[in-house]
Amino acid sequence: MDWKKFRDLPIEERLRYVQEKCGLSDEEVRMLRGGFLDEDTANHMIENVIGSIKLPIGIATNFVVNGKEYLIPMAIEESSVVAAASNAAKLCRGSGGFAAEADDSIMIGQIFIRDFDSRATDRIIAEKDRIRREANPADSTLVASGGGMEDLEVREVGDRLCVHLLIDVKDAMGANFVNSTVERVAPLLEEITGGKVVLKILSNLAVYRKVRAKAVWDKGFLEESFKESGDYKAEDIVNGIIELWNIAKEDPYRRATHNKGMMNGIDALMIATGNDWRAIESGVHAYSMLTGGLLTRFSATAEGNLEGFIEIPLAAGIVGGATKINPVAQVCLKILGVKSAKELACVAASVGLANNFAALRVLSTEGVQRGHMKLHATNIAHMAGANGRNIERVAQIMIQEKKISVARAKEILEEII
Ligand code: MEV
Repeated sequence: MDWKKFRDLPIEERLRYVQEKCGLSDEEVRMLRGGFLDEDTANHMIENVIGSIKLPIGIATNFVVNGKEYLIPMAIEESSVVAAASNAAKLCRGSGGFAAEADDSIMIGQIFIRDFDSRATDRIIAEKDRIRREANPADSTLVASGGGMEDLEVREVGDRLCVHLLIDVKDAMGANFVNSTVERVAPLLEEITGGKVVLKILSNLAVYRKVRAKAVWDKGFLEESFKESGDYKAEDIVNGIIELWNIAKEDPYRRATHNKGMMNGIDALMIATGNDWRAIESGVHAYSMLTGGLLTRFSATAEGNLEGFIEIPLAAGIVGGATKINPVAQVCLKILGVKSAKELACVAASVGLANNFAALRVLSTEGVQRGHMKLHATNIAHMAGANGRNIERVAQIMIQEKKISVARAKEILEEII
């Protein structure tokens, strides 16, 4: 369903649509509405629990990724992000939506060793099979399903050796499996190298678990998208977006904000699906530092349309951790309808590209405040006591008058009732 149509439905009807489309049970709908996380579950998730906090979950519509339609659940406190993603997805639907592909779920487990023998690196390489046997216990379900340590690499970091175990964690985020593996393998590496292990933990810089997505925005649709709000020419919109992308490439202060816009939707999807969004944030920003720049790219095609591309590391799972424990995360995964961690990564990267595009589209034209003003006016109208259809009317009048305050909203309410 088009996002504007979906936006105009009452919550009840939006829920009915999602329930029917995604086959949710009444119980799942109840959990979604209640932001359901009972005290006992919460108490087992972290320490010293005294409560839980709710975030709104919105649905971004219009997404097509690799030819498949998705409804994207987003948990976020910031207005405009869901609308921006939906609008960006709508504007590239005519060109086929997003095309995305993800690497296998290979995580890096790091083991740092000091005071090692001079032939330590050669011995580690020679003993790779023995290390692999230690890393992959036969009774592990992940190993039984084809996951586990695949390879290793050895680096010198200062006067220490750093061994990277490359571990396929399949559909999990993988932190637990990787951390148990490096702890199990550490004594064997001390034996092989004659050294002392000083650190063993996964790396959040998941460079072997990257995902890429691209989309083309037709210049005609871009021009058309401004028909209600301004007079922008197709070529200027495309060039404007590319210019802002160039500024972000050149200036780290701008790059931070540019990347924030890209992460808006990714984080919201990660939170909704119970994933460790801090791990994903740290991986993305570390990758930006490692590659020296931007993780998205915008350019003009030969026909003058806008092509966008994103490449990021993304360690997100659909099994284990909070994805399993938090019942609302389970419902959100059902709404999303992904069957693997790789499919989740493809959708997440598409959402990141969508939000980045959407931010550059408005920043290079009308600015972000116009959209925010509408929501702000709606909130003020609500605070002044407006409800139902009155909210829109009161907000609209205040925007026209360029005077947005609770006092004015109250006056308008009295006039129109
Ligand atoms: C706000 O959440 C995100 C933006 O600041 C991103 C950007 O500036 O590119 C609009």
